[in-house]
Amino acid sequence: MKKIKHKINKLRKAILKYDYFYHTLDQPIVSDAEYDYLLNQLYNLELKHKQFITFDSPTQKVGANVLNKFKKVAHFFPMLSLENTFDLNGYLKFENRIQKKCIINSTINFCCELKIDGVAVSLIYEEGNLIRAATRGDGFFGENITENVKTIKSIPLKLNGFNIPKRLEIRGEVFMLKSDFFELNTQSDTGKKKFFSNPRNAASGSLRQIDSKITAQRKLMFFCHGFNFFKEIDIFKTHYDVLMQLKSWGIPVNKETLICSNHLEILNYYRKCEKNRASFDFDIDGIVIKLNSLDLQKKIGCNSKSPRWAIAFKFFSKEAITKLYDVKFEVGRTGIITPVAYFNPVYISGVLIKKASLYNHSEINRLNLHFNDYIVIKRSGDVIPKVISVIIKKRSENAKKVFFPIYCPVCNSELFSNKEEKIIRCLSGLICDAQKKKLFYHFFSKNALDANGLGPKVIDKLIQKKFVLNLIDFFYLKKEQIKNLSNIGEKKSVKIIETIVKSKKTTMNRFIYSLGIFSVGEMISQKLSNYFICLDNFINASRKELQSIDGIGKVVANNIFNYFSISENRKLVDKLIEILDIIPYHDTSCKKNNIFNKNIVITGKFKEFSRIKLKQILTTLGARISNKISKKTDLLIFGKKFGSKFFEANKLNIKMISEEELNSLIKKER
Ligand code: IVH
Repeated sequence: MKKIKHKINKLRKAILKYDYFYHTLDQPIVSDAEYDYLLNQLYNLELKHKQFITFDSPTQKVGANVLNKFKKVAHFFPMLSLENTFDLNGYLKFENRIQKKCIINSTINFCCELKIDGVAVSLIYEEGNLIRAATRGDGFFGENITENVKTIKSIPLKLNGFNIPKRLEIRGEVFMLKSDFFELNTQSDTGKKKFFSNPRNAASGSLRQIDSKITAQRKLMFFCHGFNFFKEIDIFKTHYDVLMQLKSWGIPVNKETLICSNHLEILNYYRKCEKNRASFDFDIDGIVIKLNSLDLQKKIGCNSKSPRWAIAFKFFSKEAITKLYDVKFEVGRTGIITPVAYFNPVYISGVLIKKASLYNHSEINRLNLHFNDYIVIKRSGDVIPKVISVIIKKRSENAKKVFFPIYCPVCNSELFSNKEEKIIRCLSGLICDAQKKKLFYHFFSKNALDANGLGPKVIDKLIQKKFVLNLIDFFYLKKEQIKNLSNIGEKKSVKIIETIVKSKKTTMNRFIYSLGIFSVGEMISQKLSNYFICLDNFINASRKELQSIDGIGKVVANNIFNYFSISENRKLVDKLIEILDIIPYHDTSCKKNNIFNKNIVITGKFKEFSRIKLKQILTTLGARISNKISKKTDLLIFGKKFGSKFFEANKLNIKMISEEELNSLIKKER
């Protein structure tokens, strides 16, 4: 319960802060989608735990706080808000609810409209004359903005036509065309006037000018989406009928309005509007679905926050503005330094996004990024988050520029830039803790040694406890050590040990890949094992030989050669070869020969073959070459000046063959 109360308080605090930035300062700091999501979360929590509802909770308020600039006016009818959904399920629940309440035999019609992203206003007409205009405010009291609204050309000062009621309230949205917004912002560029981040804020800012002459210069527009009659009128049966009547009196009504009678038609309309969203010269953020019959609307009524007869079916926002709070330079497995932008979380297409890769130093330069910048985030291809641009106008004067570091943020060694590949790298390899850790993850990952269960979380814990300082240590871990780690019991620790033992048996291509040599991926590892067949040849290959392999270029050849030029790497690989059971690459067509899968040891010098060549031939035929004689040895091949292995094999009665016998055996098998 304590936890829930804490969560509720946290949500309230965040929402109130966002309200203040949005309504009072006209400077939203989160996207609408995120705001709605948080409010929804709070709403649902309060619904489940009613004891925590307080009168000052954001869920209890309908609109925003009123700014003191304008005179307060009381609304004749509360200006409610709309229930939101982001998916069809949410809509279906709404429709079900309506159907249950309405219980009528005929089809229920819905009036579907665009949800205009603007500022809600109430217009009061008396004897057909506009006498008062007000913002929504807190839903009960708004700001009197009559003088400003009178400057909006599309709002008639006098209604025209017949049967105009004595008193009438029109509700609708004041907005700015996208084209006018861009023009206004270009003017702001030169005139150094206030900058608005989107058309809605521009409309809101323009509407709330003390000097109505300024409002008059801003090209504001209006669409009507609601009304209230002060006297019961029964000539109109539906919401749509009234809209059409208002239109005939001179009130602008958006022409995309459509009557639908089931969820399929509604979904069609939703999809069509979403598709056409960019082609409208005004912003929309969804559609609004309203029960069309005025009688049924009355029957169903409202709750304290919103009418029960309407719902907003919102689009996901694909772009969002947020504030950058940090750029971290992350060191990858191969030492590449990747800048990552961390920002205030935003919802884009329904996903909460907190960070985005900035790829390389040229991207930072392109963006001319400064700390605390307001940035535009997009999900490229609707998946990967990307920083599109910076809102330079919103940058504070003393903002610090983001610079690429000169030294590795983890091991402090100097960074090197590779202009060809546009990358900056730390070349310290396993000396750098970040690279070491990521190599451990990679080494045991699915496509490498595939130690299922030994993932990053367990590896991190093992490093923390200093149980593993290098790759070799993993193969000497004891069950007790693993049990020592948090959240790992007896069963899991046994499984992890088993997994490590199992991972020892691997193939040559997997082993090469697992080493994590820069630019040596799975495909290249396969090519290398196909070509070299035995690891010794691969390890000792010259740059020239590596480059001669089909599909291996200069860069990859250099990376491999450089890797094995470092003595630590060689020692590590030697030790791994000793510990692991690496199946050499072989053509499966040779499975039926006498050497396939045999454990072979070699001793002495040979006339016709170098040691490496001999190993290569044998491994091609599927043999496993080992350095030590054991009970598992199947065959010893001896040349001149053989060593102690000859006698050890003799003692164990292991089959032995000379170079001549070997020659005929090979000829036969090949
Ligand atoms: S109907 C009781 N219809 O969206 C509220 N609202 O998020 C009835 N809006 O406050 C509102 N387009 O300012 C309605 N076609 C439309 C709308 C619309 C935009 C705004 C309106 C409302 C807000 C709710």
